[in-house]
Amino acid sequence: MNDAAQPVPQKVEPEWLYDFWYPALRSNRVRDAGLARAMLMGLPLVIGRKRDGAAFAMRDSCPHRGIPLSYGQFDGAELECCYHGWRFEPSGGQCQAIPSLTSADKLKVDRIYATSFPCAERDGFFWVFLPRSAAQGAAGQMRIEGALPAVPEVPKFSEKYVLTHLDARLPCSVDHGIIGLMDPAHGPFVHQSWWWRSRHSIHEKEKKFEPIANGFRMSAHAPSSNSAPYRLMRLAGAKAGATVETTIDFVLPNLRYEVVRSGEAWFSTLTTVTPVTASECRVDVRAAWNLFRWATPLVLPIGRYFGKKFLRQDQLTMERQAEGLKSNPNLMLIDDADRPAKWYFALKQACFEAQRTGTALRHPMEGPVTLRWRS
Ligand code: FES
Ligand SMILES: [Fe+2]
Repeated sequence: MNDAAQPVPQKVEPEWLYDFWYPALRSNRVRDAGLARAMLMGLPLVIGRKRDGAAFAMRDSCPHRGIPLSYGQFDGAELECCYHGWRFEPSGGQCQAIPSLTSADKLKVDRIYATSFPCAERDGFFWVFLPRSAAQGAAGQMRIEGALPAVPEVPKFSEKYVLTHLDARLPCSVDHGIIGLMDPAHGPFVHQSWWWRSRHSIHEKEKKFEPIANGFRMSAHAPSSNSAPYRLMRLAGAKAGATVETTIDFVLPNLRYEVVRSGEAWFSTLTTVTPVTASECRVDVRAAWNLFRWATPLVLPIGRYFGKKFLRQDQLTMERQAEGLKSNPNLMLIDDADRPAKWYFALKQACFEAQRTGTALRHPMEGPVTLRWRS
């Protein structure tokens, strides 16, 4: 773990973590009994909502002859394939009718299943749980062992809040997307701007980290005085002298939680980097806060403007990086700035090992660690 430089896995075959929830699609893409398509870990999905509001996600492929089910008709209860009219209950995938059968046919329709996955809406997204059997391309009825974990959500600390979203597609593997976003050293070079910082603002930092379940935490600390949430907290009248505290967690498979709190005031984000295909991922940022709620029409567009600019800087950098990665060069991770990236890879391997052996995840961090870098 402490090698000064260590190769970054550059796998051609994607190594994806299954048995987790992933955000597949924004909720606003589905209206009424409409159907929408999404791609998640190379798997085409058709997503919708039943009349009772229950979200569903099916593999976008009819079990009969493979035509995408998204070409079919959905009446709010059953999805009818456009080719031969087989009908499916979309939450469990069970076949309800095969119009070509005669009364003499013995085929048991209810034993036929289209592939459907657990699906739930949270914070404006359809989240889909992909079980390990999906990795082997399992078709038909999904069997999921044990209880499902909770669907991830933005931490919220009051009943009323504002919620907004930003996203960007990145032309790289999910690993590069994740380590690119957790990397502290690119800030002064990639995110230069008059309103935030220049490369000359670079200075030495010391941050404490600790292991948490399936991840690690940058321990509660006063946020950097030039960070936007910190300035906002001050502006929002976090009482003089009141402490402003921020915590940043990374949790497998792809979740980054950031919480800034001062007294009653809070601002939090949940950022995910989701594998779309082996060579493409998508960053989704959900931000929620209870500051300036009365001024939302003014604050929201400004916040979104700067958020988008920031995300665009990362996107542009990763587009350039993708150019370089085409020739599969050797890469390195250095201490301490790339240590979180090393933890990410170690956690991921520990998770594969735990899944393979059916044991608890052996956390790669033994205890709290202090990292130092300049950024
Ligand atoms: S392909 Fe779907 S019913 Fe035949
Ligand atoms: Fe960045």
